[in-house]
Amino acid sequence: MRLFVKSGAEVKVVSTKEGLEFITPLTLATLSKNPVYSEFYDKESGAWTNHVELGKWADIMVIAPCTANSLAKMANGLCDNLLLATYLSADCPVFFAPAMDLDMYAHPSTHKNIQSLLSYGNIELPAEEGELASGLKGKGRMCEPETILSMVEDFLKKKNSLRGKSVLVNAGPTHERLDPVRFIGNYSSGKMGIAIANELAQRGADVHLVLGPVSDQRLSAGIQLTRVTSAEEMLLACQSKFKEVDAAILAAAVADYRPKTQVDQKIKKKTKEFILELEKTPDVLKQLGSMKSSQTLVGFALETNDEIEHAKDKLKKKKLDFIVLNSMKDPGAGFQKDTNKITILEKNGKRHNFDTKLKSEVASDIIDLLETYLCED
Ligand code: CTP
Repeated sequence: MRLFVKSGAEVKVVSTKEGLEFITPLTLATLSKNPVYSEFYDKESGAWTNHVELGKWADIMVIAPCTANSLAKMANGLCDNLLLATYLSADCPVFFAPAMDLDMYAHPSTHKNIQSLLSYGNIELPAEEGELASGLKGKGRMCEPETILSMVEDFLKKKNSLRGKSVLVNAGPTHERLDPVRFIGNYSSGKMGIAIANELAQRGADVHLVLGPVSDQRLSAGIQLTRVTSAEEMLLACQSKFKEVDAAILAAAVADYRPKTQVDQKIKKKTKEFILELEKTPDVLKQLGSMKSSQTLVGFALETNDEIEHAKDKLKKKKLDFIVLNSMKDPGAGFQKDTNKITILEKNGKRHNFDTKLKSEVASDIIDLLETYLCED
């Protein structure tokens, strides 16, 4: 808190009641130069502390130290104190610094809770090794305050790195209608494209997301969303935005074929065999490639064999600047998962290999490279 105040931040402290057993509200108020919030109601005046307002006021929320208890509650949406209510109301980036004893930190449930917070887009300030309150030595100490400040500062620097740039992203599957109750689709969850859109928005870009039919969508504030169902709708939405953007990242798993005819009534199971005639859908990425002027164009490739060769082929045919290759052979990659393992191939022949990471971290790697195209000077 002292370091944030010193670096020019305005700081408001929300503490749990237990937190105030360690450090008095007077100390916190004096150092932060603001009142300290810990109750929903002020006992004397009866005034209501508006956690929604607090959550919306902050540009950054840092929960440090974040105990095993708070971590578990945050991971599961519990809301029995002001800190948790503020956390749930915050629409800014949230950093959390786990701090607890050795075995508590090593417990699988703590690990699972941290993974959950990361999957919500919260940012971990990783615990460090050292002497713990119990006297034991090991991992669980709160990240050093200087590290917390520098991680937040780094984040804020990146935060504005794409200000003034506009990017089109597409994500999710498409559903190709067969009759009023059936469609052809695929298992895409849209998670990778949504993580990319969120990362771009966090770096200050104007983001247009064209999203296929997925149910779960945790989008950062400010993303302009167009919902579509079919490949044809995906194409029209992307084409209309493409002219006005600096870059486009096409992460959608667009269906390659659709039923040649659609019928208005449910198809009845009359015959023993049923042959469905399919026709090709438009290739959205290829169409954008043919419209391309100064935009940076990025595509994905999902392959099961001869990955590099196929990806290189797509890079060229679709006129891309770089392509992100996922191989279905990698255990950490694929539809529905929270992790991904990618290789990026650039049109200049450069190749970048990455480890298996959370999709939010993969998005950050992709956007780091995009920045080198968009912010050359
Ligand atoms: N793509 C698209 N429109 C399609 C098919 C694919 O825009 N009808 C885009 C995807 O969003 C992705 C890239 O093209 O960015 C590669 O998709 P992928 O499924 O790997 O390859 P395809 O081009 O469909 O070729 P194939 O299925 O033969 O591998």
